[in-house]
Amino acid sequence: MYEQVSHSLLNDILDALTPELQRQDLRYFYTRLGANFYAIYSLFHHLYGQREDFQEQIIQLVEVMARRYVERSDELLQTDHGREKEHNWFLSQEWVAMALYADGFAENLQGVRDHVPYFQELGVNMVHLMPMLKCPKGASDGGYAVSDFRDINARYGSMDDLLELSAELRRREILLVLDVVVNHTSDEHEWAERARQGEQKYQDYYYVFANRDLPDMFEETMPEIFPETSPGNFTWDARMQRWVMSVFNSYQWDLNYSNPAVFIEMIDILLFWANRGADVLRLDAVAFLWKKVGTNCQNQREAHLLLQLMKDCCQVTAPGVLFIAEAIVAPSEIIKYFGEDAVIAKECEIAYNATFMALLWDATATKNARLLNQGIRSLPHKLDRATWLNYVRCHDDIGLGFDDEDIRRVGYEPIAHRRFLVDYFTGQYEDSDARGQPFGRNEKTGDARISGSLASLVGLETAVERNDEAAIDRSIRQILLLHGMILAFGGIPLLYYGDEIGTINDRSFLEDLEKANDNRWMHRPRIDWDKAEQRHRHGSVEQRLFDGLKKLIEIRKTIPAFADYNNRELLQVENPHLFAFLRNHPEHLNEVILVVANFDAHPQYLNLDDLGLRGRFHFRQMHNLAGGSTPALFKDQLVISPFSFYWLSDQRSAGLI
Ligand code: GLC
Repeated sequence: MYEQVSHSLLNDILDALTPELQRQDLRYFYTRLGANFYAIYSLFHHLYGQREDFQEQIIQLVEVMARRYVERSDELLQTDHGREKEHNWFLSQEWVAMALYADGFAENLQGVRDHVPYFQELGVNMVHLMPMLKCPKGASDGGYAVSDFRDINARYGSMDDLLELSAELRRREILLVLDVVVNHTSDEHEWAERARQGEQKYQDYYYVFANRDLPDMFEETMPEIFPETSPGNFTWDARMQRWVMSVFNSYQWDLNYSNPAVFIEMIDILLFWANRGADVLRLDAVAFLWKKVGTNCQNQREAHLLLQLMKDCCQVTAPGVLFIAEAIVAPSEIIKYFGEDAVIAKECEIAYNATFMALLWDATATKNARLLNQGIRSLPHKLDRATWLNYVRCHDDIGLGFDDEDIRRVGYEPIAHRRFLVDYFTGQYEDSDARGQPFGRNEKTGDARISGSLASLVGLETAVERNDEAAIDRSIRQILLLHGMILAFGGIPLLYYGDEIGTINDRSFLEDLEKANDNRWMHRPRIDWDKAEQRHRHGSVEQRLFDGLKKLIEIRKTIPAFADYNNRELLQVENPHLFAFLRNHPEHLNEVILVVANFDAHPQYLNLDDLGLRGRFHFRQMHNLAGGSTPALFKDQLVISPFSFYWLSDQRSAGLI
């Protein structure tokens, strides 16, 4: 958009760029800057316009963007152009992701590189490397306390190792996802050190207070994230003789984004990693970016403005790079991280579907899909050119963040129901073989979340220990069922390393003092490659899981209806154990896939007439793409075995898929 004030400012900025930058070929950069500048100016002005040095700050911002543009390699510039042409490239059903810790997966970055063929064997073509930057020697919140945003932790290797891995992934057309911890730094970061030494410039990078007046006011409305291990939201720093805001652990200091210098530093860091080959940047803890007294300091409007600004800036320098919002918040809030534009995503193109994840766990425990159906029905409409990251497990605890109203609507009482879920997954409930542990129990509120590996949470650990074939079979079915859902729902399925071979809880964290008080480490395993080799032994648990997933992944990639164009229709079914939805081909609307899942331990029946699909779907010719078979039909009822699912196409279109 052309607007006089911002355009005349843009002219001044371009004149002020250093001669060295002015000599560069900045054609594409200028075109995109022109296109986005009104938005950048408006947002930056909204956030920082009251400052006397506003103009200096915005010049600084553009200078950083231009410098990083000049630094971008020809190969990455080409990728940018390609993705501008194919701008919906990431909505395709062909993407399948896996998240992993480099050291847990394969010792270090070189090890990950050696195992790249493993991703291809399984069909994974997007790899999220969990944080591997320099962090404190002791506890570091799994790398989420960063001491240097531009240096690799020696434990994982060197920058060269990362660049080699990034090049290798690119050669094999596997996308690289990297974390940027935008909300906080470790208290050993140079900025924190210099703040401690009394430098005002760096004290202004954080929320630093001489006394408890403001911290006490904040505490009135701020919840606690780690109530057991790091109660409260402020830490006393003895050397600085000041209180510092530290929402997560006491050694993670929250960055103060009301200071534009912090924003500019972070843009520089984002673009630094974009230039090191990251295709996607996972922005950590984005819900927390803006703090305001009297609020819970989450999901503030300014946090969204900051993300929009980050997106607008990144689009100018590296338009091919996408953002993932890590915002594990209420369903109605998560959706806002795509941006509040009328049509397309203007903040993060991708967001964790924490709602679907938690609902899948609810269905697993209750053996019915009542809350799952209700929760998905209430999920607000998603924008175009925005997609979910659908997952079953990740490195964090499972939060039971359903909407209380939804819980009541299906006939449960919220507190009692959440208590049941925690009891179920921690094995306290008589009918449960799960081996999770409560995480983040808050005595004041009664809240708790759940830790534990997927295999241990669905009872596989117990079943294998008891050598109980039937129970092993049940758990394998459950693992495949959960994955069958994230592969079909719409969005990018995100697998978690180790789940593909049924990795159980790892208790070794208890022997490590730095980890012992954080039981999320029980599901951050070291891959046992001998166990992984068992995937080649026919009939082993590893083989059944690995091959089962591999096949589903392969099939997903051939089904255009599984691309994410908001082409999902939830079906109302009478049977409470079933979850059923349709996926339409984005262009050929008569090509339909009917997804039906049974979360119960008994066979269930779906009355096809009730679905009202006659005419749209030819039941007699149904073919189960997920199993390569004809589904069981009994008197016009579809029979779904315990813990299993169908991806049904009517055979007329099966040939087209
Ligand atoms: C994110 C990470 C989590 C971490 C927190 C603080 O939620 O996923 O592991 O503890 O941010 O950085």
